[in-house]
This record gives sequence, C-alpha cells and structure tokens, in this order.
Amino acid sequence: MGFPVTRLRRLRRTPQLRTMVRETSLSPDDFILPYFVRNGTGISREISSMPGVSQMSIDVLVENGKAALSEGIRAIMLFGIPDYKDATGTGAYDENGIIPRAVRALKSECPDLVVVTDVCMCEYTDHGHCGIIKNGEVDNDPTLELLAKASLAYARAGADIIAPSDMMDGRIGVIRNVLDDNRYDHIPIMAYSAKFASGFYGPFRDAAESPPQFGDRRSYQMDPANRLEAMREIALDIEEGADIIMVKPAMPYLDIIREARNQYCLPLAAYQVSGEYAMIHAAARNGWLDFDTVMMESLIAIKRAGADMILTYFARTAARKLA
Ligand code: PBG
Repeated sequence: MGFPVTRLRRLRRTPQLRTMVRETSLSPDDFILPYFVRNGTGISREISSMPGVSQMSIDVLVENGKAALSEGIRAIMLFGIPDYKDATGTGAYDENGIIPRAVRALKSECPDLVVVTDVCMCEYTDHGHCGIIKNGEVDNDPTLELLAKASLAYARAGADIIAPSDMMDGRIGVIRNVLDDNRYDHIPIMAYSAKFASGFYGPFRDAAESPPQFGDRRSYQMDPANRLEAMREIALDIEEGADIIMVKPAMPYLDIIREARNQYCLPLAAYQVSGEYAMIHAAARNGWLDFDTVMMESLIAIKRAGADMILTYFARTAARKLA
C-alpha cells in the first residue's frame, strides 16, 4: 500500500521506536583489535599516520591487552616488528622471535584474551614482500614452507587463531597440514581470503615498517576490480580448511562482504584497514566530519553488509562508546 496509507516516518518518530525497528547492532564482541609489537621495554611509539595507534614493547602490550579485555574486547590481532630483516624473513618463524615471545607473555598474564597472530613475511623480509624472491618475483611454493613454520611457531607459543595474510596460493592447506601433523588440530585458521591490493594499507606500512622495496603487491593480492575472483579465493580457502574467512579492506569492499555472506556459511571477518582509520581521523581533525558519528557509522555499515567480526583500530574507542 502506497502513500498516504504507508508512512515509513511513523517508526522513526522517537528514539524508542527507532530502537525497536533497528535491524543491526554492534557489540564489543564484534571487534578484534590489531596491535604492533616490537622489542624493548616501556616502548609506546605512536604512528604518525594512525593517531592513537602505537608500536609497543611486550610489557606495554600486556598492559594494553588487560585494559582492552576489561573494556569488553575479547580478541586482538598481533603484528610483529622484528629486530632484523633478511631475504628469507627468518624473524617470522624464529621460536624466540617477537611474536612467539609476545604470545607467551599475553597468554600467561592475560589468558582470557583471544590472541590471533597474523602470518606474513613482509614485516620480516629486507625486500618487504610477503614471500621470498626468485628472479625478481615472489616465489609461491618455497614461501609456503616458511609460512607453515611461522604458523607452527605461533601455535606452539599459544596463539588461539592463526591468520595468514600473505595471499600465496595454497597456503591454507599447507598451514592446516602442518598444524594437524603437530597436534594443533584444535587451532582455527582465519584466512585473509579476499585481500585486495589496496592503497588503503598505506599507514600500516609505516606502522609495521613493511613497504615493498621494489614493485608492488599486485602479483599476489587481488585486483580491486574483481568480485567473482574474490568468491573463488574464498571457495579455495574453505576447501583447504579455513575456519573463518575474511574480506579486506572493508568499507570500499562492502559488496564483497555481502556476497561472501550470501554465498558461504562460515564466520565472516572484515578488516577495516589502516587507511580507513586514518582517513576518518584526518577528516575529523580538520573539522570536516564528526568523529564519533562516522566511526560508528562505518562499523555498523560493515556489520550490516554481513561481517560477523570486524578487525578495527577503533575497537577500544567504539567499545567505550557502546558501554
Ligand atoms: C601483511 C598485512 C598488511 C595488512 C595486514 N597484514 C599489509 C599489506 O598487505 O601490505 C594491512 C592492514 C592495514 O592496513 O591496517 N601482509
């Protein structure tokens, strides 16, 4: 029935009515908070392009993890900045490297916090690519062995979830096998399945000190123009044993999130990346956008698109606002 009988404004008249008909809600349970950890003590070094986000030493990270947990955040994602970088990213799979040490500290002092470890080579290689290089190209299959070694080192340290972000072909299957063969068959894999070669990762590369020293990541990360290929990436990861699938970045790829939600039944994560965070901060600082409004709107939009969990640097700020 059309106007004048149907008037959609009737249910928008008061805050109470609007709450009754609200279709999507946010909770701190939805958030996974990324952290950047490096060696040292007492270090908290703010990243200039990411206001409020810092590289932290393990002691500071543990205190932050406890505070986040007390504010309702259940899960964090760890990125490591190693002491040294080399051609094969040794720091990524060193059992005493930065991530295994951070995981052990977190799990002993803050056991209830779910610790997700990103698995990639780019922070650990001197050339900044996500795999090892042969004849100027990222060499897929030899990289898989290193990713598997890193995954096993993180699981041994006590990581709750392993999250490979490298976009090599076949990595989920190889990591699943190595975990299963070493009695870590209970550890889930969160696959960065549809990870696009995005300009929105800019600030992250400052934070993780991981920009590629030559070329770009377009021979392994996805072309932003491709939707159907994203579904193939997800299907392959599921076949290889992914427990959670991810779309990344989030806001420019809401259509991919929705399509993944419609096609697949696995838990779906979306990563609101560094550039999405930086952009909102920058506009708010200029007085061009209202920070709280836009932060919450960006998160609800990602949830509405179909994400069950959101990796976001806003996690604590948004959780406080929801409290
Ligand atoms: C590592 C990795 C990146 C991000 C997460 N894992 C950077 C990249 O692929 O260049 C980006 C996260 C962000 O921008 O917040 N491969």
